[in-house]
Amino acid sequence: MAPASVVVHDGTVPDTAQPATAEPDRAGAAADAPTFAAAPPERIELPGGQLLVRIDPDRTAKAVAAVNASLDHLRPWMAWAQEPATEASIGAFFAEARDAWDARREFGYSIVAADDDEVLGGCGLHGRLGPHGLEIGYWVHVDHVGRGLATEASRALTDAAFAIPGIDRVRIRCEDGNAASARVPEKLGYSLIAVEIPDDGPCASRPTQTWVVERDAWMTRRDQPRP
Ligand SMILES: CC(C)(COP(=O)(O)OP(=O)(O)OC[C@H]1O[C@@H](n2cnc3c(N)ncnc32)[C@H](O)[C@@H]1OP(=O)(O)O)[C@@H](O)C(=O)NCCC(=O)NCCS
Repeated sequence: MAPASVVVHDGTVPDTAQPATAEPDRAGAAADAPTFAAAPPERIELPGGQLLVRIDPDRTAKAVAAVNASLDHLRPWMAWAQEPATEASIGAFFAEARDAWDARREFGYSIVAADDDEVLGGCGLHGRLGPHGLEIGYWVHVDHVGRGLATEASRALTDAAFAIPGIDRVRIRCEDGNAASARVPEKLGYSLIAVEIPDDGPCASRPTQTWVVERDAWMTRRDQPRP
């Protein structure tokens, strides 16, 4: 479905053909989301020692604690964080995410401390832009923001996405007013291609920035020394 309005910065028409789920970082894929050729690694270590680990229902209680400690921080930006999380609600999302991973449609991770004793956030690769692209979503526990976690998680997820055969583009979307979120793709060298009001997806009906990076640009940038 076409977005309600589009401002294109570089002449590229953003790919909005695929519907998105309303649960950006935790839930399973839409029924007609594409199936990808391979799954990313189930465990990825970040430079600071934290881990991205495939969503596992065994971490439900720790995820509930993280979401509820962060509720005021998440509520303005995450549709699923309007009410306190419960073991039932997170457990259902986690079970859906596990099934979506098994089907190679969506790849949801928890961000955990190095000893895997605390959930620090959530992130994932979502099949919202057709068979050749993946979208990154993220949230970080309020006590752990401002330390580069979302940026390092997204850097690792971008690498992981482009390691999947057939993936040519990775996208990050955030509400136009979400300055902290927009800094993440900006710092990673993604390009802002549009500010639009999508009809569907996590940012439906709200002015939304669309950031993308293409495979060649990412590979070139990745091989250069970081500033
Ligand atoms: C957005 C979010 C994931 C960022 O997580 P994080 O781990 O703190 O992100 P990072 O530390 O990697 O980078 C954040 C950047 O935003 C900047 N920032 C933070 N608050 C800001 C604000 N109000 N205005 C402008 N920049 C801001 C930080 O300074 C940092 O940039 P810098 O490295 O240039 O200083 C986190 O704030 C969050 O969970 N927000 C609520 C949920 C959410 O919005 N999710 C994204 C939905 S699209």
